[in-house]
Amino acid sequence: MVEILEGKRGLIFGALDERSLAWHVAERCMSEGARIVLTNTSTAIKLGTISELSASRGVELIACDATNPADIESLFSRAQEILGGKIDFLLHAVAQSTNLRRHKSYEQANYTYFQQTIDVSALSLHKILRTAMEQDAISEGGSVVALSYIASERYLCGYNDMADAKAMLESIARQMGALYGRKRGVRVNIVSQSPTPTKAGGGWEKIDYFYRYANHLSPLGNADADDCAGTCVALFSDLMRKVTMQTIYSDGGFGRTMLTPEVMEDIRDIKE
Ligand SMILES: NC(=O)c1ccc[n+]([C@@H]2O[C@H](COP(=O)([O-])OP(=O)(O)OC[C@H]3O[C@@H](n4cnc5c(N)ncnc54)[C@H](O)[C@@H]3O)[C@@H](O)[C@H]2O)c1
Repeated sequence: MVEILEGKRGLIFGALDERSLAWHVAERCMSEGARIVLTNTSTAIKLGTISELSASRGVELIACDATNPADIESLFSRAQEILGGKIDFLLHAVAQSTNLRRHKSYEQANYTYFQQTIDVSALSLHKILRTAMEQDAISEGGSVVALSYIASERYLCGYNDMADAKAMLESIARQMGALYGRKRGVRVNIVSQSPTPTKAGGGWEKIDYFYRYANHLSPLGNADADDCAGTCVALFSDLMRKVTMQTIYSDGGFGRTMLTPEVMEDIRDIKE
């Protein structure tokens, strides 16, 4: 069987535990023949289960705060040493909002937390790509994917300042995609994923109702973490070598659908 990432080297940000989208992507990349390095903050490495998971697969795990340029610089140097060459693909699966976690309403958001949300969840992609360019750490034709959510484009109650961060993340992906494409043929794309049960995905009240709604509105049903991994692997592969600056929806058709019989049935008995 052909392994579509055979011989490729990958750097994956954001795997915290076995539910993390990044962990599913990491596993799928390895089963498609890639060698990878994982990275997360030292706190996440202490509190999550990623140390055990990476050790069980013989994968190196490097601590790095994705908001800290010095950390990112040494991460790229170390990852290239471990993998024996430039990085062919990179996953950004990094997000955090204290406003969301503390259930602050959007209009009452704490501005210090707001700035942190932007720094961690959006600006980190800029910092990572800038460092990669400066070190020429990504190979010619390499592929970068960042994970986003459709609330970057449409209002979703409760998604709070993360909606702004995702809009900015998608814009950074387009701008850096244009610049890095011209400079080194590096692709930068967004995968916009269905709501998925993970630590970050679960930090919202009434989340189970929302999964059900999204599932009923999506003609193919919600995309799960393995579906997300498949889409990322396709983008990392050479099969998608002319696809860049795009948002690819791994969402079962949710974003293109207004109403389905299943949602109609759910809301049928609601009194005005
Ligand atoms: N789960 C969903 O419903 C869903 C849907 C669409 C998009 N996404 C996006 O997918 C990505 C991964 O989220 P997930 O759902 O797998 O949850 P997760 O909680 O497993 O992953 C989020 C990761 O971000 C890391 N992180 C936070 N601050 C960091 C920092 N300063 N430096 C480096 N890493 C840091 C966390 O340690 C964690 O590993 C996020 O960008 C999220 O917004 C998730």
